[in-house]
Amino acid sequence: MKTKNFANTGEQVSELNLGTMMFGGRCDEAEADRILGLAIERGVNFIDTAAGYGNGLTEEILGRIMQGGRREKLFVTTKVNKGVDRASILSSIDESLQRMQTDFVDLYLIHWPVEGMNPTEIMGALNEVVASGKSRYVGCCNFPAWLLAHHNAIAAANGWPRLINNQIAYNIIERGVEVEIFPQAVTENIAITAYRSLVQGLLTGKYRWGQPLPENTRGQTSAQIITWLSQFGESVDRFIAFAEERDITPTTLAVAWVRHNQAVTAPIIGVSSLPQLEQALDSFDYNLSDEEYAQVTYLFDTEVKEEGLQRFPGLKYNFPRLRRNLNLVQG
Ligand SMILES: NC(=O)c1ccc[n+]([C@@H]2O[C@H](COP(=O)([O-])OP(=O)(O)OC[C@H]3O[C@@H](n4cnc5c(N)ncnc54)[C@H](OP(=O)(O)O)[C@@H]3O)[C@@H](O)[C@H]2O)c1
Repeated sequence: MKTKNFANTGEQVSELNLGTMMFGGRCDEAEADRILGLAIERGVNFIDTAAGYGNGLTEEILGRIMQGGRREKLFVTTKVNKGVDRASILSSIDESLQRMQTDFVDLYLIHWPVEGMNPTEIMGALNEVVASGKSRYVGCCNFPAWLLAHHNAIAAANGWPRLINNQIAYNIIERGVEVEIFPQAVTENIAITAYRSLVQGLLTGKYRWGQPLPENTRGQTSAQIITWLSQFGESVDRFIAFAEERDITPTTLAVAWVRHNQAVTAPIIGVSSLPQLEQALDSFDYNLSDEEYAQVTYLFDTEVKEEGLQRFPGLKYNFPRLRRNLNLVQG
């Protein structure tokens, strides 16, 4: 497993970030234990969890299965539970540490922006979390670029740690983040971790439009999977064929597509069984050429097109393209 620099920290994280949201749900503790064991054996150190997963059960399971010298090998990320006021942030980190039986996490994230939140209060509380040694670094999930910049301006003005990670949904269907969040991340050295890289399993080859939803999958209950399958069924078929022509799995193609973007530090891969992890581990060696990337991207008409002038591809001042490609000098 290759590693990547984590923002400007000097830390090395594995390119596969192991998503644990299914631990304690579709994946029982014994299987979670096997998954974590194999992941570590194959060089994965980057682990993603959250206080909210299974109402704390996922963190509790991690606490037990990280015993025996595993915790020390891992770069553990967790996320604040619901409230983002000072008291909620400070109590949430304590509860997470207790559940995970660890003195600190490596990365602590605000899970979602909340209406009416107070950025100065949030950054002050995150500063306290870092100052008390309960997390080494802080970041956010699902923040628009301006909001992240606003929080980091507050951090800079007060001498507090800045947000160095934005965890966002990114895959060949959900591409809005390419327009401002990715250029910001590259310019400001913010690590992007991409969740839903496999579109909740839609791009693994097991869902086909016009065929029954496979048994024992999230597709049985996920309105998102069913909606995307109905919207992109033909594209998914061609995506699977594209992978088969290259003798790779659709999972490998989905991971390679996400990894192709230079802004991405690590795709987060959620697994609910050991065979899924085995396939994910084997998916990180395939690199798409620029030509293949363009071909596979063309299978889905999902590029963000904000302006009518998008219809004139040669036009110099095409606003979405300009915003994607500003390529400022890194500070
Ligand atoms: N920050 C946030 O707001 C946020 C939001 C969502 C998720 N996350 C994080 O991101 C992680 C991944 O998100 P996600 O689970 O929604 O999306 P995902 O990684 O795109 O999808 C994971 C699902 O894909 C299926 N899958 C994985 N490997 C497979 C394989 N080799 N063959 C067949 N199916 C396979 C499994 O579905 P089945 O279980 O149906 O088999 C698995 O549950 C989560 O675990 C969590 O850590 C963060």
